[in-house]
Amino acid sequence: MKIGIDKMAFATTSEYIDLAELAKVRGVDPNKYLIGIGQSEQAVLPPTQDIVTLGAAAADKLLNERDRERIATVIVATESGIDNSKASAIYIKRLLNLDDYVRTVEVKEACYSATAAIQFARGQVALEPEKAVLVIAADVARYGLKTAGEVTQGAGAVAMLITAEPRILAIERTSVAYSQDVMDFWRPLYATEAMVDGKYSTNVYTDFFKHTLSRYEKLTDRKLDDFAAIAFHLPFTKMGKKALEAVLDERDDQTAWRLRKALLASQNYSRRVGNLYTGSLYLGLMSLLQNDPDLKAGERIGLFSYGSGAEGEFYSGILQPGYQEQLSNVAGDLSERQLISIAAYEQQFNDQLGMNKADVEYDVSADPARFVLAGQKNHQRQYVDKQ
Ligand code: CAA
Repeated sequence: MKIGIDKMAFATTSEYIDLAELAKVRGVDPNKYLIGIGQSEQAVLPPTQDIVTLGAAAADKLLNERDRERIATVIVATESGIDNSKASAIYIKRLLNLDDYVRTVEVKEACYSATAAIQFARGQVALEPEKAVLVIAADVARYGLKTAGEVTQGAGAVAMLITAEPRILAIERTSVAYSQDVMDFWRPLYATEAMVDGKYSTNVYTDFFKHTLSRYEKLTDRKLDDFAAIAFHLPFTKMGKKALEAVLDERDDQTAWRLRKALLASQNYSRRVGNLYTGSLYLGLMSLLQNDPDLKAGERIGLFSYGSGAEGEFYSGILQPGYQEQLSNVAGDLSERQLISIAAYEQQFNDQLGMNKADVEYDVSADPARFVLAGQKNHQRQYVDKQ
């Protein structure tokens, strides 16, 4: 029985900044951001949005009545949790009006955990093929104003339905997970921004990619030539290029040409949104599927998932006929966003800290999103469905 990704949808914020403009304000050559890091635009999170509202917005785009009836579990993968105890999946399940007879959990291992969620979901669907699992990867990447990581911030969510007989990607049997206790990026419970050893983290990422890919090749007898494309976790788009070049090792044949072209297609959306942490690999996959016109059903896609701390996984899937029709319109959503000034972004960045108070109220009228965070009452987050 085939099991894998049946549908995918993406949601992000309605506002963004231009990173060439940020570079000017920070006194940096814009080409460092645009070419050196490979980011052009960045989603800006208003105080009225968080992982719950973004996750609900992404999932709402893909669910029809049949899906609602067969969802057995909702798993939210995130490293921007809004509560140390309660799972964000419970809030999302309520906003989506899903049945109460649904399991709801949150999973964490930095940017990697959506991949773990998909693997767990495969197990549940193998046991109950008539059921579906809703996996939501939702995050807000915050490094802090004027930090080296600032240019790699971002926000958004990817929702995926994992089912039998999937219509996007049938996941293949062999996957290779690899983990080591490494301090390349972390966020202590008391910190609102990530701490990161940036250069070190890029080296660990590349090492983990090489380890997992070479073991996968050994276990399956497959080579790079067997892939139509590889989708990468994209904390910033240059990272994918660094990892791919590390294994292409200056190859200049048809395979290398194909994988480089596919990488470009996969970087398109991340370049305009920024790091989504758990969702980045899957936004990269959506970007690949919507921007590489040469891909065909039946071809094999490799996926490399990485989460600092650190855990990596390389796995693969076979593209299914009609896969394009099961993806939300990401380019359309991105073109509807509003450009804001760097001063307005800085103000919004600092406004997030309002949620550290027991009671706070936000004006939700300026936020065009359907699901919004109206504030906090007696330490309880107040989510509103405007429809
Ligand atoms: N024109 C063109 N390129 C330029 C340039 C210019 N004027 N000026 C600099 N560059 C290039 C540099 O040559 C460099 O290229 P290479 O990496 O190919 O050598 C690139 O721009 C970056 O320049 P620096 O090395 O000087 O960058 P930096 O010190 O400002 O830091 C960073 C870059 C480490 C990525 C930093 O943004 C950061 O810490 N980001 C957060 C951490 C991160 O994303 N790590 C990724 C792996 S961990 C992970 O994947 C998990 C996760 O999601 C966080």
